[in-house]
Order: sequence, then C-alpha cells, then structure tokens
Amino acid sequence: MDKKWWKESVVYQIYPRSFNDSNGDGIGDIKGIIEKLDYLKNLGIDVIWLSPIYQSPNDDNGYDISDYKAVMNEFGTMEDMDTLVEEIHARGMKLMMDLVVNHSSDEHQWFIESKKSADNPYRDYYIWKKGDNGKPPNNWSSFFSGSTWDYDETTDEYYLHLFSKKQPDLNWENPALRKEIYDMMTWWLDKGVDGFRMDVINLISKVDGLPSTSSGKDLDWGGEYFMNGPLVHEYLQEMNQQVLSKYDIITVGESPGATTKDAARYANAEGTELNMIFTFEHMDLDSGPGGKWDVKPWTLGDLKEVMSKWQYDLAGKGWNSLYLNNHDQPRMVSRFGNDGEYRVRSAKMLATFLHMLQGTPYIYQGEEIGMTNVRFESIEEYDDIEIHNMFREAVTEGGQDYDKVMEAIYVKGRDNARTPMQWDNSDHAGFTTGTPWLKVNPNYDEINAVNALNDQDSIYYFYQHLIQMRKQHDVIVYGKYELIQKDHAQIYAYTRTLDQDELLILCNFSGEKAEFSYEMTSKQDTVELLVQNMETVEDQFLSELTLAPYEARVYKISRS
Ligand code: NOJ
Repeated sequence: MDKKWWKESVVYQIYPRSFNDSNGDGIGDIKGIIEKLDYLKNLGIDVIWLSPIYQSPNDDNGYDISDYKAVMNEFGTMEDMDTLVEEIHARGMKLMMDLVVNHSSDEHQWFIESKKSADNPYRDYYIWKKGDNGKPPNNWSSFFSGSTWDYDETTDEYYLHLFSKKQPDLNWENPALRKEIYDMMTWWLDKGVDGFRMDVINLISKVDGLPSTSSGKDLDWGGEYFMNGPLVHEYLQEMNQQVLSKYDIITVGESPGATTKDAARYANAEGTELNMIFTFEHMDLDSGPGGKWDVKPWTLGDLKEVMSKWQYDLAGKGWNSLYLNNHDQPRMVSRFGNDGEYRVRSAKMLATFLHMLQGTPYIYQGEEIGMTNVRFESIEEYDDIEIHNMFREAVTEGGQDYDKVMEAIYVKGRDNARTPMQWDNSDHAGFTTGTPWLKVNPNYDEINAVNALNDQDSIYYFYQHLIQMRKQHDVIVYGKYELIQKDHAQIYAYTRTLDQDELLILCNFSGEKAEFSYEMTSKQDTVELLVQNMETVEDQFLSELTLAPYEARVYKISRS
C-alpha cells in the first residue's frame, strides 16, 4: 500500500466563469472565488482544480489560451491569482491549475508568428501541411464538427486543429516548443501552485504522416491517429523528469479514448508519468454508434462493467480518478439519478457510489447542492461552441429535425454544467448583480447553497460526511474493490477490504424498492452503518434487506 496525499484527497472543480462574480459584470472572477473559499473548506475538500483562468479570446471559454503567463481580464489580475494561492494555502487546501497544451489560441503570439511565413522561427510550433488537390491534407473530423484543418492563404498551407479553428494544435515533435511548455509549468509551480489537470494530454502525439482514415469518407473520426499516439509516453516521461518529479504535486491527465492498459502506463505506480487520468468510458455509456449526440439509454449492467474494469485493471498498477460530472458533462443527478421526486436522495446515492470506489474523487461545482440539467427554449440562449457547431452542421446545414437536435442538447450539452452556480434565491441565484453571461437555471429558488447550508439533511452535508469518512477509514482510500451480485438489476453492490476491515456498499439505482441479501461469514463480525442517505433505516439483517428507491448504504464490517 503506497500511501500518497493525493490518493487521500478530494478535489473540487471550479469553472471560474460560472462560479461567483464579485464585480457585477456577469462573469465569475478570481475575487469571487476567494469569497467562497470558506464554503469549500467547510465542505472538507483538499484540492481545488481551477479550469483555465489564463488570457484567452474565449472561443472555448478559456480552453484557447493566448498567453499562458497572464490572467484573463474578466477574471482579474495576476495579483488576484497570487492572493488566491495564498488564501487557499492559508486554509490548508491546494490549487491544481488547468494546463491546456495540446493546443493554444490562434491569438497566441506563437501562432501569430507561425502564420507569417513558412520559414518563421515559430513555424514548427504548430502543425502545417500542404492540401491534397484543393482539399484538406486528410479527412479527420474535429471534436467540434467539421474538418480538423483550416486553410491559410499566406503560405498556401493548412494547419491542424483537433478542436475549433481558433485552437491550433501545438507541435510536440518540436523540442523548442516542449521546452517552452516545461518552462511555463515550472514558472507556475514556482509561484506556488500544487499541480496540473492536463487537458486532452493523450492527444499530443500524432501518427507520422497524418494519414487519412481508410473509409474513403470526406470526413471521418481519426482518433486512432492522435489518441494515445506513438510518442505520448516519451513526452510525458520527459515532462515528468524535467518538471513534475521536482515538486510534490498532484497531476491528472484528461484522456479520451484511453483504455485501462493505456492508463496503467500514464498513471503507473512507479510515478514516471502522471498520478492519474480521467477516463471517458463511463461517460460514453449513453452514446450510440453516431457518437455523443446520438443519445441512447445507459444501463446499470454496463455501468457496473465499465467501473469494475477500471477498478480491477488499475489495482496495484495505477490510480483512478473518480468523477460523474465536470464542465463538459451533463449534471449527474439528471443523467444517472432522478432530478424530480428523488433528486436529493439520488444525488446522495450517486455520491456514495462514487466516493466509496478506489481512486481520488472529483466534485464539480454545484454537484454538492444537487444542481440539475437545464432546458433553454431556443438555441440562441446557449453559449457553447460545441453545441453551436453541431447545431449548425445538423440543423442549419444538414436539415435535421430541430426538436430532435434540441432534445440531444438538453441531455448532453455542456451548458448543462455551465449555468451559474446557485448561491441563494436572490436575482440570478446570487451569482452576479449584473446580467449573467449564461442564464441561470430557473430552479435556483429551491436549489441553492443557502438552502443547503440551512438544512442538516442536505446534499452538501452528506458530501461533508462522505469526505470525513474518507479521512477516518483507510479502507475507503486503499481497500481492495470487489463487485458482488453483478447481475442484480437494480442495485450496484460492491465491497472494499483492507486487513480486518470490510465495507459493503449498496446503491439502489432504480426508482423502485429493491431486495438484497448478504451472508456474513462469521457470527462475531460487527456491523456498523457508516453512511446512509435515508432519514431512518429500520433494523434489518444483512441477510434480508429491502432498499427504498435510490437508497444507498455503506456498512462497515469488522472481522473478529
Ligand atoms: C477538454 C476540455 O475539458 C474542454 O472543455 C475543451 O473544450 C477541450 N478539452 C479542448 O480544450
């Protein structure tokens, strides 16, 4: 058992644009975050992951950076950042920065230079290629719809962008670029930040020659040519040697398309690359063959299979991150729970399910008060570039059914997660005194932080309890995972064991009562109910249990 502080930590993600606005311009800011640090400390979290606050033209809300060493004007100043670091540390918490280095903004000085001429010293900071008889160099489609290539007249070449055309991919094959990135990371670490969440870090190495896919289609998903590419481990090991290994920090790499085999290398226990990665496999359970917007129902069987695979395959080899939502995903209670009658209970059930697994849990802002998905009436009310590009391609250009596409946006759109944080029941949920950049979810009257803090049975205090349990019971962090009764149609049940301690975790994922039976091994075992999401649980024997809809329980069984 290799003990590490970042395994024992709970991380809270802040999406700064939507967290708290201190100056009334409708956009969250750094001073606004500082105002809420006590709220986070009180929740019990250890680490804050801050989505990008760097200078950016905001084509993708800060995930398009034009200066890695400057702060976005709307968010404040570098002095505010220094204060934020100090205030976080003063409360015994840590700060993990977002690091977006697969691509920069097209307004970054490097790209402005790179575009000027084919022999500019910055040309090879990006990926340029001649077209193929008037067509782009290959047929890869972008994460944000359309081609991954944009034509530039000055040099009659195309540049690669896996995301929007304002997010050109950086060329990691260029050692000068890599050195700039490592220097920039060192600069932030020397300022006192405590780690990095690395944006799509497993996309930084592309297959030689950038070939088209074999389908012959004009546009096709080229993931196999850039996800977990040939040199990605080499680059991460170099980054580790030159930067990460010199500090006691936390690192997590966002990694779409990574298998558990890949993860066992990225997050290897020897520590030569990263601490952990974010997998997408459980986030893809409700995507059909047509991808993210081709929504299909997820099943409990699939969830058990995917989560268990990650638990088993990384045991002793790597380390998991645990999440059910973030700024790119719909709200978990709307997606995996019930955001109507059982909103509070199912949010607590999902929290129990996630926090009892092996790995480092991540809480996304608003999750701790059970915020839900939103349904805006018209496409104009949405902000997200991914939504708008998809809508244009599908409806405006492709003639698909408006209502059907809107339905997919309601279920999967990223703006579900980005509506402003709901602090109280005053105008705009207390997020801003101005006009918010994205409308507030109309349910803020009921769902808000003040209500949560005034109610001892709230989701907020439930998270607080889960986090406290984690600090008190090593088995929650380090215990071995085992899925039990895998064919149960309603309950996700698993155990965790460490020495004499065993946890039995029971989560009813259905809106119906569910029966469960567990045989104790020895009469002397003692059983304690550590976590429960219902007000009272009648005395019951483990051998004959009935769980209410969305009920969750965690029993601690101690062997004598
Ligand atoms: C993943 C980030 O989480 C997402 O918000 C962003 O749009 C893409 N990477 C591109 O940076």
